Parts: sequence; structure tokens; C-alpha cells
Amino acid sequence: MSFYFQDGFLYCEDIKVKDIQDRIPNSPFYLYSLDRILENYRAYESALEGVSAIVSYALKANTNLTIARHLREAGAGATLVSGNELKVALAAGFDNKIITYNGNGKTMSELSLAVLHDVMVNIDSEFDLEHIKKAAQETGKTARVTLRINPAVDPEVHPYIATGLKNTKFGIMNERLDWYLEKIRQSPELNLVGVHCHLGSTIKKVKIFRDAMEIMTGFFKEIREKGFDVQYLNLGGGLGIDYERREKMPTQSELIDSIRDCLLDDMTLIVEPGRSIVGDAAILVCKVTGVKSNGNKNFIVIDGSMAELIRPSLYDAYHEIGYIEPVNGEEKVFDIVGPICESADFLGLDRNLPTPHERAGLVVYDAGAYSFIMSSNYNLKMKPAEYLVNDKQLIRIRRAETIDDYMRLFENDPVAI
Ligand code: LLP
Repeated sequence: MSFYFQDGFLYCEDIKVKDIQDRIPNSPFYLYSLDRILENYRAYESALEGVSAIVSYALKANTNLTIARHLREAGAGATLVSGNELKVALAAGFDNKIITYNGNGKTMSELSLAVLHDVMVNIDSEFDLEHIKKAAQETGKTARVTLRINPAVDPEVHPYIATGLKNTKFGIMNERLDWYLEKIRQSPELNLVGVHCHLGSTIKKVKIFRDAMEIMTGFFKEIREKGFDVQYLNLGGGLGIDYERREKMPTQSELIDSIRDCLLDDMTLIVEPGRSIVGDAAILVCKVTGVKSNGNKNFIVIDGSMAELIRPSLYDAYHEIGYIEPVNGEEKVFDIVGPICESADFLGLDRNLPTPHERAGLVVYDAGAYSFIMSSNYNLKMKPAEYLVNDKQLIRIRRAETIDDYMRLFENDPVAI
């Protein structure tokens, strides 16, 4: 088990989180369970047994180099959205043949790097196609491309994380498909190898994937009929996790089973999960600074904040919150807030919790995806360290940033340019 309670104390694999907190100089910090990450990854692999498929981990969810390396060793491909993510993917040793590069605003230098390394590049727009062509000409390579098609399927999620709707900025308009195919036909530098879509994130129903798969299989067949030897159907990522601890989320195998009959013999399916691999595999471990009441509100003030984990402030996202040790104060309804000078700085609202003592350990759960990687230096909070429990061993996988790191960026400035 990755996270569990024993005698009122929280454990990560077999290590008491309180002991870790006592040993570590900085608070808050992120703590990951490698077991959970690999278990989540393997759930995709076993769901896909017998299917020609690539599980392409969406690095944007968590770009820690050590985590990326472990997933690569387990056999994952990588899905990227920037040139810098490509550099991390290469440093982690991912096989370039199973790297896909998505994005609506790829720059020329990012594209040149991608084409040079022969990764699959998703065409997102007319200008993107021209830029990929140019990158191929300049590097003397043929670009392996896929077409990001917007299937216009509603993922039923927060509007900020819906991507496959007609009015979002991603992908090509379906009505323009023939234009793109003609362009590609006339461009020897472009080798069309597949189609791609991504509907959105935190999706809770397999029917949504199923609907998209039917539409995408239709495009896949149409493109083949028009003479292109496409191999990959990339269904994107998006499977949700049970943040609220009360919904039944579809499993990886339910997701794959729901689309299985759409798969064609000579087709390779690509899935691009991020959240469902790393999301529930980490906690943000904080300390209570104090407790206060204003008006009719009670607040637990902690040392973690929107700077370390912005999802609640940005998307009204719910993350479960609890203590790592027995806390016996009076139970009340609290907002759990950080020290940032903004009223949007909360990790949880209206939570029933016992009143904590100062320095009590408090954790925010499901903090493995879009958490550390979306952290900032706002109010000059320094990015926290990340630790991983690997086979009962506590490993630091990224040190905490320091104010010296921050000051170093000013070392040679101001400078006239
Ligand atoms: N593929 C593409 C093309 C994507 O844009 C994304 C995520 C994924 C795969 C991975 O999706 P996942 O399996 O992780 O849902 N910051 C937001 C999430 C934004 C996700 C954007 N795209 C959040 O904190 O909820």
C-alpha cells in the first residue's frame, strides 16, 4: 500500500511521514510513492495486453527527471509540449521513436530540435505545418507528423482544461482535413504517420473516450482510403482520478475495453496519460503555522500555499486534506490557507477537521500531477524539495530552491544590451 494510516500516523510505503518530516530541513515538501506510480503505469500496460499500443507518459503532469527515468525504464513513451520537455525526455533516455510532441505554439527552434531527433510531431494549424516543413528542410530530415484533429466531443470538465471542443485553440478544423492532406501529399519532407486528439483532463466517463474513438477511427480510415499509410491513432490523455474520494472513476482497463472494438489490426494505439499515472502518487507535506478565526470563518494557516500547489485557486480543484499524526482538538469547519498575500490562497475550503496544534503535520493528497510543476516563486516562496520512497528508501529527487538560487539570476544584471 502506498499511503495508509497506522496508529493514527500516516505512512508512505513503509515509512512514517512524521519521521520524514522531522528529518527534513524544509517544509513544505512533496513526497512520492514509486510503487504507486509504477502500479498506475502497469495498469495501462496490462489493460493493453495483446494490443499494439504505446503508453506515452504526458511529461507535463510531472517533469521530475527521476520520475521520468523510472517511467522510461518501465517501458513508457513520452508526450511533450515544449522543446525543454524534449530535453528532459532525452536526458531521461526515452526512445525518440515513441516520443510525441504536441502544442499549438511550437517555435522554430523547438521544431528543429524535434525534427532533428525524429520524434513524432503533431500538426496543430496551417502555420504549424509550414513551420514543421521548414524545420525539416533546414535539418535535412523527413518529419514524422500526425494530425491533431479536434473531435468536438465535450469532455464535461472545467472549461480551462477542456481541449477537444470546437472553440478551443487546439487542433485543426475537421472541415479542413482535405486541405491538410493535400498539403502533406505535396510535401516530401512530411511523412504522415497518424492522427491525434486530446479531449481534456479529469474525464470521468469512458463513454466520452468511446465517442472520440469512433470519430477518430472514422478519420483514420478516411485518411488511409485517401492513400496515406498511417499507423498511429493517438487518443490523448485525460483519464480522471478520484480527488473527492467519492466518485467511482473508470479504471485503465475499463477505458481500454470501451474502445477495444474500434481498434484495427494494423493500427497502433497511443494513449497519453499524465494525471492517472502520477496524480495519486504524491502528497504535499506541510506544517500548521497557526489557527485563527475572522467573522464566522475559521482558518488553519499552513506553510504550504498556492505557490506550491495552485490547482485549488486556479480551477476550484478539490484535494483531500488531513493530518499525518493524531490531532485531538475540537472539530470545526476550516478553510486551509497559506501565507500568500491573496485571498485566493487556499488549499481547501470548508473542511471538517479537528483543531490542530502548532507545527502539526498536514498533508494535501493527490499532489503528483500538475502540482510541483505548476509551482511558482510568488511572494518569493522557494520551490519545495521533492522526495521519493523507492523500495523503503527515502530518496531526494529534487532539492529545495534557495534564495541564493534566486539571487544568482541577478548576478550579471543590470546589463545594457
Ligand atoms: N496529451 C495532451 C495533448 C495534453 O494536452 C494533456 C494535458 C495530456 C495528454 C495529459 O492529460 P492527463 O492524462 O494528465 O489528463 N493543469 C491542469 C491540467 C491540464 C492538462 C492539459 N493537457 C490541472 O491541473 O488539472
